Amino acid sequence: MCWACSGPGRDTFATLLFLGVVTVVETVPRDSRPKCDVLVLGLLQNQAKQAQAPIELASPPTWLSAAERAEVLAQATALKAKGRIEEITRIARPKAELILLVGLGGAGEKIEPSVLRKAAASAARVLVDVNVAGFCLPVVDAPAAQAITEGIVLGAYSFTAYKTKADAPVPLKKALLLTPTNPQIKQAAKTGEITSDAVNFARDLINTPANDLYPAEFAKRVRATVKTPAVKIKIWDEKQLFCEKMNAIIDVGKGSQHPPRLIRLEYKPRDSKAHLALVGKGITFDTGGYSIKPATGMVTMKADMSGAAAVIAAMVAIAELKIKTHVTAYAVLAENMVSASAQRPSDIIKSYSGKTIEVLNTDAEGRLVLADAITRALEDKPDVLVDVATLTGAASIALGKRTAGAMARTDAPRSRIVSAANKAGEQIWGMPIPDEMRASLDSDVADIANISKGADASGGMLKGAAFLAEFVPEGLDWVHLDIANVAFNDSSPYGYTPAGGTGFGVRTLIALATDLQGGS
Ligand code: BES
Ligand code: MN
Ligand code: ZN
Repeated sequence: MCWACSGPGRDTFATLLFLGVVTVVETVPRDSRPKCDVLVLGLLQNQAKQAQAPIELASPPTWLSAAERAEVLAQATALKAKGRIEEITRIARPKAELILLVGLGGAGEKIEPSVLRKAAASAARVLVDVNVAGFCLPVVDAPAAQAITEGIVLGAYSFTAYKTKADAPVPLKKALLLTPTNPQIKQAAKTGEITSDAVNFARDLINTPANDLYPAEFAKRVRATVKTPAVKIKIWDEKQLFCEKMNAIIDVGKGSQHPPRLIRLEYKPRDSKAHLALVGKGITFDTGGYSIKPATGMVTMKADMSGAAAVIAAMVAIAELKIKTHVTAYAVLAENMVSASAQRPSDIIKSYSGKTIEVLNTDAEGRLVLADAITRALEDKPDVLVDVATLTGAASIALGKRTAGAMARTDAPRSRIVSAANKAGEQIWGMPIPDEMRASLDSDVADIANISKGADASGGMLKGAAFLAEFVPEGLDWVHLDIANVAFNDSSPYGYTPAGGTGFGVRTLIALATDLQGGS
C-alpha cells in the first residue's frame, strides 16, 4: 500500500507469476495428419558404410508421401544438415506446414530417452511465437513418450513474468505428440507433463527476484499451488519458530525485514511401504551477511532457495502422480541480510537439536537453517532423508556446472539417488564424507563451528556435508545433495536447461519417490 495516498502503491509482480505461457502437450494418433503450424521430425545420421544417403528421417509418418519425404531430405542435404544430436534445420515449404528437423544422432541402435528429451527440447526452444506444433518423433515405448514430453515442456520454458513489451517472444502454446494409440504411452506422456510442469514451477520460484519472493511470499505461493486435500500443509511463522526454539533459522533470518518461515507438506497415500523426508534450503537471498559476498558472487543469490523450490515442486508432482510413497517435505526459508539486527561472526546459536553452533562465517548460513529443519524432519521418523541445498561454491570446483554432488555416510542410499537421477536424466555424482572432515569443524567454545578454523577451503563441499551429518543420526539412510553448481545457469541454454533457474533435483526426487514404492 502507498503510505502517501493509501492507493495500491508499488506494482508487485507477485500475482502475475502464473500468467506465463504453459505449454500443453496432447497425444494424437500418429497415422492421421495433425493440423499444426510446424511439424517436428527427427533426422538420423546414417552411419552404415554402404548407406545410400548420409541422413534419413526417423520414423516418418505414413501420411507424409514419398515425394514429400524426398523433398525434405533434398532440402536438408542442401542445408548441410548432418543429423547431429540437437541440430536444428528449418525446411520451409510454401504450400504446407514448416518442417523443423531435429538431429537424433547415429541411426541403428535404439535412441536413448535422454537423447529424445534433449532433441525435443532443442526443437521446443526455437518454436517461439508458434501456436501449435506437431512432434513426430520415434515414440517407440512409454519411456520415450515421457522423455519427449518432458523435453517439449522443459525446452519451451522461458521466464516472461517481468517482460512488459508486447513484442516479447511467446513460448510454444500447444504441442501435439504423435503416438501409437496405446494407453501406456498416453499415461507416460501425462507423467512427463506433470513432471516437467513441476520443474517449471520450481524454475518460476527460482527466477523470481528476492524483492518479490521473500519467505512469507514463498509460503503464500505454496499455499496457492498445493490445493489437493491429499497434501497437508503446515507453516511456521517467525513467532512459532522462536517459540519452538528453532534458533538457527531465527538467527539466520534476523537481519532481514522479511522474517523466516518453515513449511511442511505431508502426503501419505494408503499402502505406502516407505517414508521419504525431503528438506530444502530456502534462502530467498544470500548476501553472505556480515561475512559479505563480493558483488559478482552476489548477483545470482536469488537462486539460493532452489533446494526449497525443488522439494516443494517434487511434492506437487508426487501427489499428482499418486505415487505410493509417504513423503514429508520441508522448505526452510530465510533471507540472509546485513543490518543492525543481523547475526555476527562469532555468535553462538543453540540450535533446535540442542547442539550449540559457533557462527565463524555468516555466509555459511545454509547449513545453519538446515540443521534445524533436519532436526524437525527427524521427528517424523522417516526411513530415508534427503536434503537438497545450494550449499557451497566448492561444488562447482569439484564437479563443474552440470553435475550435482550426492554425499552420504554409506553407499546404499547414495547409489539409490544416483540411479534415480540416471533414470530421470539428471547428472548426479556420489561423493564421500571423509571422517577427518568433522575435526576441522571443532569449535573452541561451542559443540561445532559452521566453517573450518582458518577458513581452510579444501574439500568445501564435503565439509558442508560433515557439518550436516552432525544433526543426522548414524544408521539413518540420509543423502545430502549439493546443487549450488547446477541450480542456476548463468550462461546460454543447452538441451532442456534454460538460462536462469534450472529446477534441478525435481525429477530425481520424483524418481526416488517412485523407486521407494517398493519399500526402502
Ligand atoms: N549460497 C552459498 C553457496 C553458493 C555459492 C551457491 C555459489 C551458489 C553459487 C552458500 O550459502 C555459501 O555462501 N557458502 C559458502 C560457504 C563457506 C563460507 C564455507 C561458500 O561456498 O563460499
Ligand atoms: Mn552463504
Ligand atoms: Zn547460501
